[in-house]
Amino acid sequence: MEAPPPLFLPFLLLLLLLASNTATAARDGCSEGCDLALASYYVTKNMNVTFIAQLFGFSDYRALAKYNRGLPRIDYVTTGNRVDVPFPCKCLARPSDPASTYLAASIPYRVVTGETYASIASNFNNLTTADWLQATNSYPPNNIPDDAIVNATVNCSCGDAGISTDYGLFRTFPLRDWDTLASVAATRDLSSPEQMDTLRRYNPGMDGATGSGIVYIPAKDPDGSYRPLKSSAGKKVSAGAIAGSVVAGVVAPVLGVLLFLFYRRRKAKQNALRLASTILMQKVTSSATQADVASLAAGITVDKSVEFTYQELFNATEGFNITHKIGQGGFGAVYYAELVGEKAAIKKMDMQATQEFLAELKVLTHVHHLNLVRLIGYCTESSLFLVYEFVENGNLSQHLRGTGYEPLSWAERVRIALDSARGLEYIHEHTVPVYIHRDIKSANILIDKNTRAKVADFGLTKLTEVGGASLQTRVVGTFGYMPPEYVRYGDISRKVDVYAFGVVLYELISGKDAIVRPTDGSASGSRGLVYLFEEALTALDPKEGLQKLIDPKLGDDYPVDAILMMTHLANACTEEDPKLRPTMRSVVVALMTLSSMSEFWDMKNPGLVNLMSGR
Ligand SMILES: Nc1ncnc2c1ncn2[C@@H]1O[C@H](COP(=O)(O)OP(=O)(O)OP(=O)(O)O)[C@@H](O)[C@H]1O
Ligand SMILES: *[C@@H]1O[C@H](CO)[C@@H](O)[C@H](O)[C@H]1NC(C)=O
Ligand SMILES: *[C@@H]1O[C@H](CO)[C@@H](O)[C@H](O)[C@H]1NC(C)=O
Ligand SMILES: *[C@@H]1O[C@H](CO)[C@@H](O)[C@H](O)[C@H]1NC(C)=O
Ligand SMILES: *[C@@H]1O[C@H](CO)[C@@H](O)[C@H](O)[C@H]1NC(C)=O
Ligand SMILES: [Mg+2]
Repeated sequence: MEAPPPLFLPFLLLLLLLASNTATAARDGCSEGCDLALASYYVTKNMNVTFIAQLFGFSDYRALAKYNRGLPRIDYVTTGNRVDVPFPCKCLARPSDPASTYLAASIPYRVVTGETYASIASNFNNLTTADWLQATNSYPPNNIPDDAIVNATVNCSCGDAGISTDYGLFRTFPLRDWDTLASVAATRDLSSPEQMDTLRRYNPGMDGATGSGIVYIPAKDPDGSYRPLKSSAGKKVSAGAIAGSVVAGVVAPVLGVLLFLFYRRRKAKQNALRLASTILMQKVTSSATQADVASLAAGITVDKSVEFTYQELFNATEGFNITHKIGQGGFGAVYYAELVGEKAAIKKMDMQATQEFLAELKVLTHVHHLNLVRLIGYCTESSLFLVYEFVENGNLSQHLRGTGYEPLSWAERVRIALDSARGLEYIHEHTVPVYIHRDIKSANILIDKNTRAKVADFGLTKLTEVGGASLQTRVVGTFGYMPPEYVRYGDISRKVDVYAFGVVLYELISGKDAIVRPTDGSASGSRGLVYLFEEALTALDPKEGLQKLIDPKLGDDYPVDAILMMTHLANACTEEDPKLRPTMRSVVVALMTLSSMSEFWDMKNPGLVNLMSGR
């Protein structure tokens, strides 16, 4: 594609603005739509997400993942859940009366022989009705041609500046069974009196409805916050968006060229660079003491340990409702809730609390570090519950291999490694007592909305030990991450965590699981990632073997030197002999060097983008 010369840009923008200003001028229902609304699709029996996605014109169901992060899995959605399907919300006119407008998506639906408006509507699980289809399609109900494309019309809302500018994204939500506006509001954390009042105004006449009809409920963006209403117009916004993509289309190639030049220069200077990095290494080592001071400061305790009642947790999760469940781990299920005005993840442990447990828990709530998932509090009624700060952007395993996440750039991977190394170093060196995590793995590294990493679940293994008469009933640790001395003799030292951290580094490089299964799906022939890298590193041509292991999602966008360095670091962490593995302190130092080598490779790095655009 040829990028237009920069001079054309203002002209193009002008054209776009002119075009958008001549958009619909309607008389009643609406004057403009918005680029996004969500359909809350209730999943009935024998239905799968592929079917739902296709209904709305998505060829790949994974496109839905982004708007359904609350679901445990997007590829296996069970009856009784709701799937949010994104669609553009337009201002449309009735075929019979062009002056009568309404907000909806008209989703093309190919009719199968013999279908009626009722049978078509039935696919949409009350998101539309036969009457409404008849009103928005020109074909008479008894004469829909075979193979015709009809409009499957799903109503939507774009918000209303006259009601509130806090909400600009809405869910079209068909009520069912005993649903009322108030009960739906409660499940979506919108039940304060003011919010209920706002909801009633968005849904006039629906306050008394139970079990049928559609309500419009404000929805959150994938980043977990409500999308505010864009000022005054959808049209301004969309012109802006288009302009944005035009700008991106021009800027991206320019950036690409600049990066290319940058890279070439860098290659030429490779030897100089190596020297520089040695010097840097020394510098970083001396500044590491500063970082330690900083992390100590970050670790100063803030006394706010909270004991929750069962009722509080029960209410905040609607009775540990499936819709609140965000995960299932070796210790129990995890639920999302909002408690004391803070987003929280509640871990319902399959065990009871003992006195020693409680003492330990109190200590844990006092450990604070930027790179550790904070324990807000706990509850010991009926079973043991741990309440953690909610980290909104999934775990590292999902980012590397799950659906619905952008591939991580090299610089992001290095930063995630450094963040989690810092968290781990903190519990190894700076807490009293010192903790050994014993379950370091990518699923226990959580990512926040700024793509910073936090280590989860530290201290948990200690709990199972303290609490257990049945000390060894659960083998603590996860396959693929456990070092040989631990598997064989149960030897526990900080080096157990260092080994597991090495495996996480290999995951960051390769994007692969800690245990790589053969592509035919059989269990035999599974290989540990540590083994695969060892094999590559000891081969005749290590570079060639490594090349095959590098995550294809990185494309060509990574500095080879840095990857080699991380591989060697991971290799040292996973030494068979624990004494040969570095401490987490040394790992942090090495990763700091790596991070200074890698930051220029991040296309998303705003520093770099600003630099290049001359700001
Ligand atoms: N504080 C949190 N914030 C957000 N999500 C969380 C939080 N804690 C856990 N989760 C999510 O819940 C899921 C289950 O967590 P859990 O810790 O129970 O299992 P796990 O990490 O897979 O295994 P393990 O039991 O060995 O730790 C995780 O995949 C994680 O993504
Ligand atoms: C999904 O459902 C459709 C129709 O309900 C069915 O034809 C298809 O085989 C199902 N696919 C899977 C993967 O279950
Ligand atoms: C649709 O609504 C009807 C009547 O309100 C109800 O009987 C039916 O169960 C609903 N279907 C779904 C999938 O919600
Ligand atoms: C969609 O909205 C129009 C008016 O805006 C209304 O007449 C119609 O009944 C609605 N359809 C459904 C299925 O709610
Ligand atoms: C579908 O809707 C569009 C606009 O809303 C209209 O122009 C078109 O005629 C409709 N299709 C049918 C089959 O009625
Ligand atoms: Mg965990």
